[in-house]
Amino acid sequence: MTEASFTPRVFSGIQPSGGLTLGNYLGAMKRFVDMQDAGAHETVYCMVDLHAITVWQDPADLQKNTRELAAGFIASGIDPEKSILFNQSRVPEHAQLAWVFNCVARMGWMGRMTQWKDKAGKNAEQASLGLFAYPALMAADILIYHATHVPVGEDQKQHLELTRDIAAKFNHDFGVDFFPITEPVIEGAATRVMSLRDGTKKMSKSDPSDLSRINMTDDADAIAKKIRKAKTDPEPLPSELKGLDDRPDARNLVNIYAALAEVSPQAVLDDHAGQQFGTFKPILAELAVEKLAPIGSEMSRLMADQPEIDRILARGAERAREITEPILAKTYDIVGMVR
Ligand code: TYM
Repeated sequence: MTEASFTPRVFSGIQPSGGLTLGNYLGAMKRFVDMQDAGAHETVYCMVDLHAITVWQDPADLQKNTRELAAGFIASGIDPEKSILFNQSRVPEHAQLAWVFNCVARMGWMGRMTQWKDKAGKNAEQASLGLFAYPALMAADILIYHATHVPVGEDQKQHLELTRDIAAKFNHDFGVDFFPITEPVIEGAATRVMSLRDGTKKMSKSDPSDLSRINMTDDADAIAKKIRKAKTDPEPLPSELKGLDDRPDARNLVNIYAALAEVSPQAVLDDHAGQQFGTFKPILAELAVEKLAPIGSEMSRLMADQPEIDRILARGAERAREITEPILAKTYDIVGMVR
């Protein structure tokens, strides 16, 4: 089987671990919508609840966060008729293929993952086995669909390289050309949205300071306030991108503007060079409120109809299994399971 024979298919996932940020939206969700609307691929999007429990999740919060994330997908423009939208635990082939990949991947590969090192820290002995094996489940998420393209933010790049290594090792070990060597899609101005309080740190839902991030559920006042309070420097905006090289906070706001306005960072500088942040921030705040506040209010509206969200996820899982069941069956055949 050559790569050309794989159906062009996009897969990506987001953890329902609470709080969708502007980083998730610009780095992932908005790009998921663009790929859905471009129509060049089948698109499959997943709330990865099995990944979320690699660290402790309160069960009631996990349920609430999964439904809230589903509302976030739909409010951002994912159409559950066009895309397949579901939560991971409802499609058991993810976990089943992950077990096979646990036996293909090597301990050393997992140990080199920077996310593992960051999350487990010095306390690796106390981290869950699931956290260590996390990237094998992620590879299974992607490869159980024979996905050819995976849109993600920059922080997932190493996991996607590992996914390619697992596919290649499986194909080599069993002498097949069964799993595609998936292409990461890490493009645009916002593949790494930084903290509003520290332009050298990634914007993250786990940052203790709420001022460091914009949450997709923030209202217009909160969005405007956080941008007004964002850390900047006293210099005006330069006319060329290289003028932002040593100015991470300034560069972050320019990138956020570019991604929200769907223009290049250079085009933002073309329009705003010479402006101080006292002038630029209110313009950015207005743009952010215009683009984000309607998504937040649509999320609240959707959350009020929980049975509808549950119906959408159940239907999405049924459609997902039409793809995953035959791929798992073929994988078991290749591996030599008697069935
Ligand atoms: P997660 O849930 O941490 O984040 C979801 C997506 O949001 C992107 N992202 C960002 N992009 C730009 N700037 C930021 N500050 C920022 N913060 C988060 C992430 O890169 C990601 O694309 N392991 C994954 C979930 C996953 C997955 C998969 C992704 C599980 N299986 C299969 C793709 C394919 C994760 O923890 O993402």
